[in-house]
Formats: sequence, structure tokens, C-alpha cells
Amino acid sequence: MPASVSVHLRQLEFGETRIPYHYGVGLEGGIPDLLRQGLGDADVLLFLVDGRLADTYQRLARQLRPAFEVSSVEFEPSEYAKNLNAVGDIMEQAVARGVTRKSVIVALGGGTIGNIAGMVAALLFRGIRLVHLPTTPVGAFDSVISLKQAVNLTAGKNLCGTFFAPTLVACDLDWLTTVPARLLRTSLVEMAKNVLTTSPGQERKFLAATELLTVDQARALESFLEIGISAKQPLLRADGKEKREALVFEYGHTVGHAIELASAGTVGHGEAVGWGMLVAAEISRARLDLSAEDLGTHTRLMGALGITRATRPAVDLAAVGELVAKDNKRGYIACGPDEVAMVLLRSVGEVACSEPGMPLVPVPVEVLDGALRTVLG
Ligand SMILES: NC(=O)c1ccc[n+]([C@@H]2O[C@H](COP(=O)([O-])OP(=O)(O)OC[C@H]3O[C@@H](n4cnc5c(N)ncnc54)[C@H](O)[C@@H]3O)[C@@H](O)[C@H]2O)c1
Repeated sequence: MPASVSVHLRQLEFGETRIPYHYGVGLEGGIPDLLRQGLGDADVLLFLVDGRLADTYQRLARQLRPAFEVSSVEFEPSEYAKNLNAVGDIMEQAVARGVTRKSVIVALGGGTIGNIAGMVAALLFRGIRLVHLPTTPVGAFDSVISLKQAVNLTAGKNLCGTFFAPTLVACDLDWLTTVPARLLRTSLVEMAKNVLTTSPGQERKFLAATELLTVDQARALESFLEIGISAKQPLLRADGKEKREALVFEYGHTVGHAIELASAGTVGHGEAVGWGMLVAAEISRARLDLSAEDLGTHTRLMGALGITRATRPAVDLAAVGELVAKDNKRGYIACGPDEVAMVLLRSVGEVACSEPGMPLVPVPVEVLDGALRTVLG
């Protein structure tokens, strides 16, 4: 391996389930060995590949043959294509290509590819092995540090899904350096969310990594990945299905998902969650006395990622309000017909709970509408 290679291994823990996560700058050349060691008895490796990663796939496939039969399905990721039709189509192709119960689905791409591959692996033969090779910051720092797999329904985002654990995760941080700057920056919003909700002590590391991005992008990404794992792991170890304490990672997502859908895909996931957190902070200030200083921390972290009043998206706020009403966190807590369940903060690092261990509180729709107008109007 070249001298600049730095490789790390963390064990992701979800209750009793442990998943090795290999990451580092220059890891790619070592991934075939990791797959041979971890999946030696597999017959077919079926890659679900983001077309942008076609060359990476070819390099990996060359090294994996002849130990495995390797084939691929290319997929153009988008929120519109992330649906059950895609999952069904890929399963049909998998079976036609000889995938068996001993085969492995390998996701090479961002969070969209990872989620679809996760659904395919969970459903095909009632579950076959899954490997995640994430190639975007959202994929690497957030999506794969979760067992959640889901696709969209017409009624809303991620409404159809399940929990499914990969056998192995591996990420060469060099892959992430080709992600467009805007997507990269806004993707880091999920890391800012971790700082705001569970790890206020990481604010300095986060801002330093943000500055390092222009100097040594891959090393900066390594820092962000470490912030992601360290923030999420303590909660996910205890609540692997993210139905109680770990719902805190939905901060900003109730409004964020609605903005993403209402904008017809022009506002990306990370950016939309950033705006969702600013709306949630505004509601937290109105309902829970979140301090002006903590509101300022939100603005500072979002500002470091280019999410400022000057860059606010033009979205139909009425449509956002309607979509929020269909959010998939309905049902976790009792809400009236004119209320929505949201994650709110009492202070940075302290989440409001409706009962011990349940970090969702009901928010009247009119309060939500007011905050939407304040932040996005
Ligand atoms: N399971 C979870 O807990 C979880 C968590 C967060 C997000 N998600 C899901 O992840 C999805 C968003 O993930 P995403 O932001 O990675 O989106 P994505 O997978 O759609 O990728 C975004 C864009 O980046 C491109 N791309 C991918 N890798 C690249 C690379 N190395 N270089 C250049 N371009 C590259 C893709 O082709 C696409 O155009 C959403 O559907 C979201 O619901 C799931």
C-alpha cells in the first residue's frame, strides 16, 4: 500500500449486533482482501453501483475475480427512483444473474444506493448478506451508521422500510473527495446535527474539520466520520432500531424531508435537514426557551456549511406544512389532529422528551407554520 494510506477499524454496535467498519484514506486497494476474509464462502457478489462509480467498480471487480463471481446493476440515484419498483426490478435482475442465498449484495454509492441495496438484501430470499461501500458523506457518516433501510412511497419519504444489518462496511475517504462541493458541504449538515443534539463538545472539532476541507479534504472527511461514529454509537448501541432515544437523530428531519419533497428534488437532503434544524430551533426557542446563544450556535454551524439567510430556498411553505403532517414519526407519541411530533432542544445537547427516553414532543401546526415563515419566508 502507498505510504499515504491510513486505515482504521471501528466496531459499530447495535444491541448484540457488531459490524466492522473499515475506513481510511487510500483504503480501496485493501477492500478486496477485506471481502475475501469476511465473505469467503459467498458465491456471487452483486454490486448495486452508482454510475459515477463505474470505474471504481471495475477496479474492485478485477481484484475480486476469480475468488467470487462478480456482477453489477447500475442505478442512477434519485429520490424519485428510490422506490419499491426499483427494489423489485433489482431483485428480478439478481435472481436472473444467479444470486443465491449464499450471495452478497454490495452497495457502491451514496445513501440512495445504500438504502435500495439494503432493501434488496433484506427481502431477497428473506435476507442475504449486505456490504456497504459508501461513496458520499451522507452515506459514510450517517446512513451506514444506522440499520434503517427504506424507500419512498408517493405519500412521503422513507415510508416503506425495515431494519437490516450489513456484514461489513468499508469506505475509502478518497472516494468522497469527488462529491460536488455543494453536496459535500450540505451533507455535513448531518454531522452538525450530531454536535447540536448529542455532542456539543465536538463543536470545535467540527469547525476545525470544516476549515481543513479546503486544505486536506480527505483528512477533514476522516474527522467528520469520527464525529459521526462517536456521536451516534452510544445511542444506537442501546437503541439499534431508533425507536426511542436514538430518535434524536431525526432532529431537523420532520421539516427537512418535507422541504426535500416540496422542492421536487432541487433542495438536497443535507441542505433540507439544515433548514429543518433552523425551523426546529426557532420552535424550540418559542416553546422551550432555547437560549439566544444556542440559536446562535445553530446559525454558526449552518453558516459554516453555507446555509444562510441569503441562500434560503424558494419552497411552497403550504406544501411543506401539508407534507409535515404525513411525516413518518406520527404514531410514536399521542398527537392531536392539529399537532405534529418533532424533535426539539431545550439547549444544545439537551433534547426535550414527552416522557423519559422519548425525544419527541407535539407541536401545534400553527406554531410550525409561524417558524416556517420566520426561517424560510
Ligand atoms: N439509512 C439511514 O439512516 C439514512 C440516513 C441518511 C440518509 N439516508 C438516505 O440517503 C439518501 C441521501 O444520500 P446521499 O446524499 O448520499 O445521496 P445519493 O446517494 O443520491 O448521492 C447524491 C449524488 O452524489 C452522487 N455521487 C455518489 N457518490 C459520488 C462520488 N464519490 N463522487 C461524485 N458524486 C457521487 C450520486 O450520483 C448523486 O448524484 C436519502 O435517500 C436518504 O433518505 C438514509
